[in-house]
Amino acid sequence: MTLEDIPDIMVIEHESFTLPWSEEAFRNELTHNHFARYLVMEHNGKPIGYAGMWTIVDEAHVTNIAVRTVYRGFHLGEKLLRRMMKWAAELGMVRMTLEVRVSNEVARSLYGKMGFSPAGVRRGYYSDNHEDALIMWCELPKRPHRAGTEGSGWY
Ligand SMILES: CC(C)(COP(=O)(O)OP(=O)(O)OC[C@H]1O[C@@H](n2cnc3c(N)ncnc32)[C@H](O)[C@@H]1OP(=O)(O)O)[C@@H](O)C(=O)NCCC(=O)NCCS
Repeated sequence: MTLEDIPDIMVIEHESFTLPWSEEAFRNELTHNHFARYLVMEHNGKPIGYAGMWTIVDEAHVTNIAVRTVYRGFHLGEKLLRRMMKWAAELGMVRMTLEVRVSNEVARSLYGKMGFSPAGVRRGYYSDNHEDALIMWCELPKRPHRAGTEGSGWY
């Protein structure tokens, strides 16, 4: 993700979340947060999805993942998450964690499919409706050797 992507990211962000991040928040992530890594998925040169994480010591914390509404259901969210898990493993991260609204069955199903397991609940975590957040964790494969990852089946 670059600063030029932010206007398109804001459209996706507002489509996707009841508590959207501001432009300033994304700008800060890209320019000041050394832990932050953001991926953009494009179609015909336009961002249609994105995902982000903070890589801290050996743990990757997912900050957000979203796909434009009309592009959902075509395994693009799965592709984005898979790509971000690969990136995290390449950076030496051992495990990945995230929070998800307990009511977000689509995202929970995606995370379960990708190997995440529930590990706890943050009560009333979301400020708009005081909904609980489910905390999920996933072990990542050992840092892939760049020459030997083909055919491993993991990606
Ligand atoms: C969550 C999100 C990124 C998933 O992306 P997507 O491209 O729609 O999902 P995919 O097509 O890649 O589907 C992958 C898996 O997600 C789950 N899933 C997707 N759509 C689903 C639906 N309508 N109902 C139930 N599960 C669904 C399934 O497990 C699916 O795997 P399967 O098709 O093999 O069953 C997308 O729906 C989104 O942007 N939602 C709004 C933002 C959001 O909630 N982000 C997560 C915050 S924690």
